[in-house]
Amino acid sequence: MCGIVGYIGGEQAAPVLLEGLSKLEYRGYDSAGVAVYNESGMHVVKSKGRLAVLEGILDKGEKLPGTVGIGHTRWATHGAPSDVNSHPQVSDGGLFAVVHNGIIENYMQLKEHLMRRGVEFVSDTDTEVVAQMLEHYYRGDVLAAIRQVTQRVEGSYALGIICADCPEKVFAVRKDSPLIVGLSEGQNFIASDVTAILAHTREIVRLRDREIAVLTREGAEFYDEELEPLEKPAETIEWDVAAAEKGGYEHFMMKEICEQPEALLKTISPRIKDGRIVLDDLKLTRADIEKISRVYIVACGTSYHVGAVAKYAFEKLLRMPIETDVASEFRYRDPILDDKTLVIIISQSGETADTLAALREARRQGARTLAIVNVVGSTIANEADDVLYTWAGPEIAVASTKAYSTQLAVIYLIALYMARELGTLTEQELEEYTKALEKLPELAEAALSGRETIQYFASQYFNAKDMYFIGRNVDYAASLEASLKLKEISYIHSEAYTGGELKHGPISLIEEGTLVIALCTCGRLFGKMAANIREVKARGAVVLGLCTEEFAGEMKGVADWQFCVPKVPDFMLPSMSILPLQLFAYYVASMKGCDIDKPRNLAKSVTVE
Ligand code: AGP
Repeated sequence: MCGIVGYIGGEQAAPVLLEGLSKLEYRGYDSAGVAVYNESGMHVVKSKGRLAVLEGILDKGEKLPGTVGIGHTRWATHGAPSDVNSHPQVSDGGLFAVVHNGIIENYMQLKEHLMRRGVEFVSDTDTEVVAQMLEHYYRGDVLAAIRQVTQRVEGSYALGIICADCPEKVFAVRKDSPLIVGLSEGQNFIASDVTAILAHTREIVRLRDREIAVLTREGAEFYDEELEPLEKPAETIEWDVAAAEKGGYEHFMMKEICEQPEALLKTISPRIKDGRIVLDDLKLTRADIEKISRVYIVACGTSYHVGAVAKYAFEKLLRMPIETDVASEFRYRDPILDDKTLVIIISQSGETADTLAALREARRQGARTLAIVNVVGSTIANEADDVLYTWAGPEIAVASTKAYSTQLAVIYLIALYMARELGTLTEQELEEYTKALEKLPELAEAALSGRETIQYFASQYFNAKDMYFIGRNVDYAASLEASLKLKEISYIHSEAYTGGELKHGPISLIEEGTLVIALCTCGRLFGKMAANIREVKARGAVVLGLCTEEFAGEMKGVADWQFCVPKVPDFMLPSMSILPLQLFAYYVASMKGCDIDKPRNLAKSVTVE
């Protein structure tokens, strides 16, 4: 996600900003920029590409004098990576420079409102709206202008602001995206996280939602959204830089597992307005949808496992035949595609070679293509007919977690959107499922709350040589992903089987002490899965049973261990069951001393065939 740094003090701002931004590079970005105020006014220098490009332009900051400034590394969400879409974004009259982390959900309405009043926009970003609104509402008091803006803006934001009319101050505002103030003698800072300013101070103040900070060289003042003064205590950071980059977590993977509720919120919330699913970015019209006779879902690895869940969701909601395929097989089996085929391509990186090749094959045969991608402006995103982004923020750990969860959320959004257009669901069903989707972020938080239980269970079995995951229907689809997570970071051999398939061969693998994790969250098949648990236990297996609360009692009677997840509509259950199983894989790998964020032999994005 984006990185923000701000400075006011006695030193030259540009070198401090560039150094702070370099500490935020790990967050992933595609462009960078700074705004510095000096006696000749406000100067903004920004460019697409790595921070090194900006450092070169600024000669590491030497070429831009001034002791007040803000800086930004951009992880694109709205508007592809480019110089003009980089931050800081500047208002029409040059009064305000703004850096932003988050998503302004109603930016189009606000932009149209200002354009009708003659405001000229230059970028495709949502952030520019903030800079333009500040100038539009400014009547000599920056705080009052900020209040006007925050009362109208919907979405998530961490904002750093400087004003040419008020050069002795740096302003900071936050809602849903983290932002901190760093305090030091004669100089003060703002930053997205502590790593950017640890070299200068360990005294920080965390802004809470809708709080505003006003920094001068002497100190910082804090206000609530009504501009009432706030007293806010400082805290001393004990972390070292390495720990701070991971937000205090030991590994990026755990940080990203725990970010899933927030990532789900950012992916779902902008796409449900007044209980109705709105996919602004989708060019697929009702006529296009009605023309579709077949849907393929094509991807690799974890993204393919999202397709395995999507098959159940689409067939249940759309009553339409769905084929899923691993991308590396897709084009070599001469698929039969035409202009009535919709090919959904799923990719976190948007650069996976096999998946890109599958996309190109689909387009070559005239199929309609829709990509679900996390990296804005990536090759797959640019080449597909339509793209829907998962706003998970950059996923640093090789093992995919929050991308999987947000890809699932986008699948549910598409399936419900298409079901509404095709009329395959009643209004009541649509309302029920849409409400369930809106609740997913908070239920994910609940599903992640039992970390200690999972950690203890992992401590009992991290030396296992084999582990088997079994499930039926959507639980089988989730088993595929759970098994891959365990394999790729703990190096323990693992397989996923449908519960009903055990008796056709795999059950011969079960012996005394074999660990089997049975996913039984699909209530209507609980009895079948209970029978499968008895089958493997009769041959000596130790079984962890995953189920929803309503089956907790019965599960106690069949499995050795059980873990409950919140109940959601069946096709959404993998969004719940995968969470404890991501934690399980993490703890097993951690107890084995594996390199969790960078497992052996693996790359984050496989850009070769
Ligand atoms: C999953 O944990 C792995 N990192 C891998 O399977 C990954 O999902 C696969 O390589 C596809 O990557 P993509 O989503 O970026 O296309």
